[in-house]
Amino acid sequence: MASKMLRGRFKGGISPVLLGFSSSLDTDKEMFFEDVWGSEAHVLMLAKQGIIPAGDAGKILKALGDVKKEYSAGKFELDEAFEDVHINIENYVISKCGIEYGGRMHTARSRNDQVLTDTKLHLRKELLEVMGCVLELEESLLCLADQNADAIMPGYTHMQHAQPITFGFWASSYASMLLRDFDRLSGAYAHDNTCPLGAGALSGTSFPIDREYTAKLLGFDGVHVHALDAVSSRDHVLEALSALSILMCDLSKLAEEFVLWSSCEFGFIEFSDSFATGSSIMPQKKNPDMAELVRGKTGRVYGALMQVLTLMKGLPGGYNRDMQEDRELLWDALYVVKGSLQVLNAGLSDAKINRARMSESVYADFSTATELANYLVKEKGIAFRKAYEITGGVVKELSSRKKDLRDTSEVIAFLKKSGVTASSDALSEILDPGKAASRNKSLGGTAPAEVRRMVKELRNDAEAKEAGLKKRIEKVESAKKLTQQAVKEMI
Ligand code: ARG
Repeated sequence: MASKMLRGRFKGGISPVLLGFSSSLDTDKEMFFEDVWGSEAHVLMLAKQGIIPAGDAGKILKALGDVKKEYSAGKFELDEAFEDVHINIENYVISKCGIEYGGRMHTARSRNDQVLTDTKLHLRKELLEVMGCVLELEESLLCLADQNADAIMPGYTHMQHAQPITFGFWASSYASMLLRDFDRLSGAYAHDNTCPLGAGALSGTSFPIDREYTAKLLGFDGVHVHALDAVSSRDHVLEALSALSILMCDLSKLAEEFVLWSSCEFGFIEFSDSFATGSSIMPQKKNPDMAELVRGKTGRVYGALMQVLTLMKGLPGGYNRDMQEDRELLWDALYVVKGSLQVLNAGLSDAKINRARMSESVYADFSTATELANYLVKEKGIAFRKAYEITGGVVKELSSRKKDLRDTSEVIAFLKKSGVTASSDALSEILDPGKAASRNKSLGGTAPAEVRRMVKELRNDAEAKEAGLKKRIEKVESAKKLTQQAVKEMI
């Protein structure tokens, strides 16, 4: 049955059709504890400022403590009759303490600043977890990079063999990418972690509130000062979804390479049986569903970003009920991203890297052709474009005879036609893919020594990021303790 709360100016109750349609309980559930924390901070502030008597605050805080316990024990259920989590909890407090006391909790507050506070607190918690998962996957990639810094494989452009690289080079490229994802999430965190509480419905309040104090109790880095801007804002949601979308783009690329490389044509990598799936009809199948699902679920996160962008684009300033739609999408995106990071990390840590297959595939190709051209430039003083043409001619001749660059005597013969003499020893050195990769020692290149150096540097960067993440987590934890200590003293 619909409640009478918020019905003062109406003749009758709300239509059950509208009540069901407008309920946000499904997504509010996720931020139940954040809503209580926000109310605790608000009530502590009201009492500190003398806006409500300390005794009344104590009663409200006791009821808030009870609702947390009952909810955790499964004894308190959110009731559809009360629209959302805010009204459910306020109703609980009023029914516990009576309207004379409980009815003071919502002084100098609106659901507009309240819902935003809850969302920001919950998103903050989720972002911290996602950032932790990014660093874990990054570390797994760096371990693989370290172990396989000299494992030769083909490097691709246009999905065609291009130049030899090492598996460590490939793995560390994703680690390097993920650190930027971390930075983007960290930027979204900074905008998320400002406190909107105290903005009221849209214009602040005539009560002498202390916004800095509530922000401190809730562990925010500062106050989102402008009241109208605060209640109108969901750009932190957009920023988080953008960062999550770009992260999923990167994970989806990684997943795509896993799908290709675990195929029988490539065979570069094999997932353990526990990270593979079978077929209902073909007994031999070993499928990389894990990677395919990461690739597939990416669309859900992009979709969430597009939906919230569309949701926000035509809204006038101030709170609009449309905004309630942001959470379902945001929570789902966070769920997908966390799951994707965890499954890729677990699958990767268990995977077998097939060095022999990778190296076999790079030897039977023309991927050291650039090195041959470079040799002509370095040792024979030929201009690069000319050297490129000579080498192209060599490749043309070889491939028409179904040969490759391993056939040094053929290479010598074709070079001779262009007036270049080269010894077999020199060519074997130049055309060997492993040696070629080792020569790419330029900053950021694929040479094993450079890969190992980059791994160290990336690890240092990740360690600094991890320390920053730990500080943020500690700040949130100590704010929780601070609030609970103040609640205890007030009760
Ligand atoms: N359930 C609402 C939401 O999720 C809470 C805020 C309602 N505010 C209002 N003015 N009706 O956005």
